[in-house]
Amino acid sequence: MSNRNDTTDFHAIASAIEARGFCVVPDFLGRDEIDFLVEEFDVCPDYSAPPQDKRSAGLRGDQPATGALRENAMGRKETYQRIRPRMEAFAQGVTGAKAALYQILYLQTPITDLPVHQDTDQFFLTAFNPTHLNFWIPLVKPSRTEAGLRLIPWDRLGEQSPRLLNLCRHSGASFMRSLRDGGTWYVSDWSGVHWVDEDLELEEVIETPELGPGDLLLLSHNTVHTTQTTDDRRLAVSLRTCDPETPIDWHRVVGSPTPHRMSHLAGRSRLNFPVFQHIQANDFGATLGDLVPTLTGERE
Ligand SMILES: [Fe+2]
Repeated sequence: MSNRNDTTDFHAIASAIEARGFCVVPDFLGRDEIDFLVEEFDVCPDYSAPPQDKRSAGLRGDQPATGALRENAMGRKETYQRIRPRMEAFAQGVTGAKAALYQILYLQTPITDLPVHQDTDQFFLTAFNPTHLNFWIPLVKPSRTEAGLRLIPWDRLGEQSPRLLNLCRHSGASFMRSLRDGGTWYVSDWSGVHWVDEDLELEEVIETPELGPGDLLLLSHNTVHTTQTTDDRRLAVSLRTCDPETPIDWHRVVGSPTPHRMSHLAGRSRLNFPVFQHIQANDFGATLGDLVPTLTGERE
């Protein structure tokens, strides 16, 4: 049974997002919505080319990346049109602002295996924005305790490393690594800032909420997270909403502050490259709302 908006405690959800960076809403999607999204995964286009690293190649063998061996996909027009009203109404309930669904992204394990990070592509689009949400929903999952997302709550991070909280809390596009002799290395792909906290151990602050298919893990767009690895198949969908009046700063989208970012743009990111083209064609002034039909495939 779906959790309908009229029985949802939006105030409690917004408070949890502010304090911790995430919140679980059980049974968010009904069976019909889960089945629809799983079927769409097979017909939607790839978001990015499959990774060329050894692990992924080993998992895929020589087979083309389809079905269970596919890494990711992005929603098509039909996917947006079916789920948009529900998602935008829910996002408005949480933020109290207007909301536009601008991205549907499928991620599948075991091909997807990401380190501890704050999302990059979406951060370069809007920068920090409190209305920018990430609805992460498993559709196929081996069990409630496996193949989820591992998260760093803001409150736990603040207790262990006030400096790192300060660096991350109103920023994004970063990654963190545990150092061999202890401590944590933080690198911002946004500002280029590097920072080592010798006293922070990531494993001591990470939490892994239990989730089943159709449960919603609602995150702020910049909540620090990592893949809970598995050799079993897990298919999740990540839906992004943000206030459509958010101005898009073209310096931010096309700027290349780090080598990683330069190679990303040169590789024609499926999110940022169309935005760059749209901005160029429209005299370098745009809001997120102006871009949505381009990003969703609804602009012919
Ligand atoms: Fe991510």
